[in-house]
Amino acid sequence: MARLIHHSKLAISRFSISASRNGRFLSTSSDKSNGPIGSAKAGIVEEAETVQLPPPPTEKLLVIGGNGFVGSHICKEALNRGLTVASLSRSGRSSIQESWANSVMWHQGNLFSTDSWKDALKGVTSIISCVGGFGSNSEMYKINGTANINAIRAASDEGVKRFVYISAADFGVVNYLLQGYYEGKRAAETELLTKYAYGGVILRPGFIYGTRRVGSMKLPLGVIGSPLEMVLQHAKPLSQIPLVGPLLTPPVNVNAVARVAVRAASDPVFPPGIVDVYGILRYSQQK
Ligand SMILES: NC(=O)c1ccc[n+]([C@@H]2O[C@H](COP(=O)([O-])OP(=O)(O)OC[C@H]3O[C@@H](n4cnc5c(N)ncnc54)[C@H](OP(=O)(O)O)[C@@H]3O)[C@@H](O)[C@H]2O)c1
Repeated sequence: MARLIHHSKLAISRFSISASRNGRFLSTSSDKSNGPIGSAKAGIVEEAETVQLPPPPTEKLLVIGGNGFVGSHICKEALNRGLTVASLSRSGRSSIQESWANSVMWHQGNLFSTDSWKDALKGVTSIISCVGGFGSNSEMYKINGTANINAIRAASDEGVKRFVYISAADFGVVNYLLQGYYEGKRAAETELLTKYAYGGVILRPGFIYGTRRVGSMKLPLGVIGSPLEMVLQHAKPLSQIPLVGPLLTPPVNVNAVARVAVRAASDPVFPPGIVDVYGILRYSQQK
């Protein structure tokens, strides 16, 4: 027993493990016979030698539609969170002149021709798709549905771990007027839940407000959106009223959508599935 204790003391004094602030330092002090145990007894803690470990693998986020209204806020948020960020869209680089835009890798490609954007998937660990739009019913189905289905399939084939899709909340009667839009959104959601049962997140915001750029002009949509959000976020039961209820869905700030989307794309324990407007508001308020 005494021999066993003697041996373990020796072993401890030969190897000391110290954690630096970023937890990446491992030290061995085989040549210090007095080691940290002896020093600690005397009330002195010696600084450990450090051995550099390789940096943790970096997360690379691809934002499809990163030059759009929601997408540009997502790129900025992801960069602030320390992710490597790339964007893919038909027009490529954003016209935004802010400094963060220089840190994004801008790819040009069209989701309808896979060859034009295969390269953009290299090394990507997660994707957020902001692709969507309006037009005739068949155009809306294609851009909201088919384009995103193409992206989800290619990402899954390439082994991308997480995929977040910016979908849209139901708007009751409006769903009938914008049939192609909602049918496309739901078709893309179904594909995502199938291909990404564990790493797929669908955000369903209603109206998204913030500063939207139209050419060189900035539209302050928050002037209407912000007060409506204040009132309607506390009126959830009203949204259950048939037909008109969904029109009372609270608007959400574009920064809140961006925050939740980036978290959903980078946090491996973020629950997969659908996040409605109230969920977006709740998650965005969490630290
Ligand atoms: N804004 C809202 O109030 C709101 C509300 C609810 C849900 N949503 C949803 O949120 C998402 C983002 O909305 P948003 O307002 O940010 O739209 P947006 O500004 O029009 O952005 C759409 C993005 O998709 C890209 N894109 C379109 N077709 C593409 C294609 N074939 N291949 C590659 N990229 C393509 C566009 O860039 P290029 O034109 O350069 O290709 C653009 O960057 C959409 O799915 C929308 O339905 C928006």
